[in-house]
Formats: sequence, C-alpha cells, structure tokens
Amino acid sequence: MLTEPEQDRLLRAARAAQTQAYAPYSHFAVGAAVLDEHGRVHSGCNVENAAYPEGLCAEAGAFSAMVLAGGRRVRALAVVGDGARLVTPCGGCRQKLREFAAPDTPVLVADRVQLRARFTLAQLLPDSFGPEQLAP
Ligand code: THU
Repeated sequence: MLTEPEQDRLLRAARAAQTQAYAPYSHFAVGAAVLDEHGRVHSGCNVENAAYPEGLCAEAGAFSAMVLAGGRRVRALAVVGDGARLVTPCGGCRQKLREFAAPDTPVLVADRVQLRARFTLAQLLPDSFGPEQLAP
C-alpha cells in the first residue's frame, strides 16, 4: 500500500529529477523515482549520449541509485514526462522494475502538474520472467 504522503514524496522527487535530465537529442526530459523497502526515495533522470543507443532511461538511474544505497525492493515507481500522451516506462525498464518489484507494485505516471494514470507492474508486464524462474 502506498500512502498519500509517500505518493507525494515520490512525485516530488520524480519531478525534481526531470529538471536534471540530460536530453540534448530528443529534448524529451524524463524523471523517475522509486520508494524502497526502507521508505527511502531514489530518483533518476534520462541521460542521453551522442552514440544514441548508449542513452539511459530515467528509471534505470533510479534503480541504480536504489541498489547503490542498499535498497533491494521497489514498493512504488513514479515516472514524470511531458506531452499529450502518457509517459509509461519503456519495455526494458518494465523488465528492470520486475527484478525488484512484486506484480501488484504501483507505477504512477505523471506530468509536471498532475498524476495522470496508475498501473500495476503486472498490467504493464503480464506473464513476466523474473528471478523466481531461475530458482532451482
Ligand atoms: N525515456 C525514459 O527515460 N524513460 C521512459 O520510460 C521512456 C523514455 C527517455 C529515453 C530518451 O532519453 C527519451 O526519453 C526519449 O525516448
């Protein structure tokens, strides 16, 4: 369960991260934030590269920050981006989230102003492959 204050913290962190995006090629700034099992928030922004495929998504940065800080479970993810359409996590980031999150983990999709949609990981990545499949 995600409390209202936790949701607010998450959205604030993702919005702050969006302002730090390095996106000189797409001009599409994205911010992400995760809430870990200790109640801490970790954020990331997209970091593009002149060698385009080397660019990193905002979510990847947030997962990396969480792991570096010792977090191992994602209780919720927030993604913030601009535009008419929802900025939902890309396929690769859905799989990255899968590593650390349960199927019912909330994924909040927002812009600079409002929360626009709420999904679960299972909705975004049904019948997924995860660490359990590798267990003997
Ligand atoms: N991007 C993210 O950071 N996260 C997403 O979930 C969708 C896409 C970034 C990658 C690239 O820097 C820019 O948005 C345009 O695709």
